[in-house]
Amino acid sequence: MQKTYIMLKPDAVKRGLMGRIIGRIEDKGFKIVNAKMFTLTVAQLEEHYAHLKDKPFFKDIVEYMTSGPVLGMIVEGDDVILGMRKIMGATKWLEADAGTIRGDFACSTTQNLIHGSDSEETAEAEIKRFFGE
Ligand code: CDP
Ligand code: MG
Repeated sequence: MQKTYIMLKPDAVKRGLMGRIIGRIEDKGFKIVNAKMFTLTVAQLEEHYAHLKDKPFFKDIVEYMTSGPVLGMIVEGDDVILGMRKIMGATKWLEADAGTIRGDFACSTTQNLIHGSDSEETAEAEIKRFFGE
């Protein structure tokens, strides 16, 4: 059974969408095995989004991602890493298909509600980073 790191971003929390997004994850058949709410630090973000650190929009990401609490979760299931990426939808909201979380609830590429690990390596690193497991 595979594990992935999922994070409901501050806009999901502020907009009261946690329950509906968690419902979609559970409806799919994936299992939430750990969860906690916390506020990200800039240091955590610089590590988590290291691949974006040189982008002109990085400061916007930091401002947004530290604007309130997030819900971090470890989610388990067969092929859950790719499976979660599929139900999340594409990064850019205009490319996210209807029926996906981003496709149905987001109209901003930065404020796109949800993070999900993109490979086995990042899943392992992110679960360690945020849950120490
Ligand atoms: O989140 P995902 O793995 O789909 O995309 P990413 O390329 O790893 O980017 C991480 C996050 O940075 C995105 O989810 C957006 O919140 C933000 N981002 C952005 O604001 N503008 C972009 N052109 C690309 C990403
Ligand atoms: Mg990513």
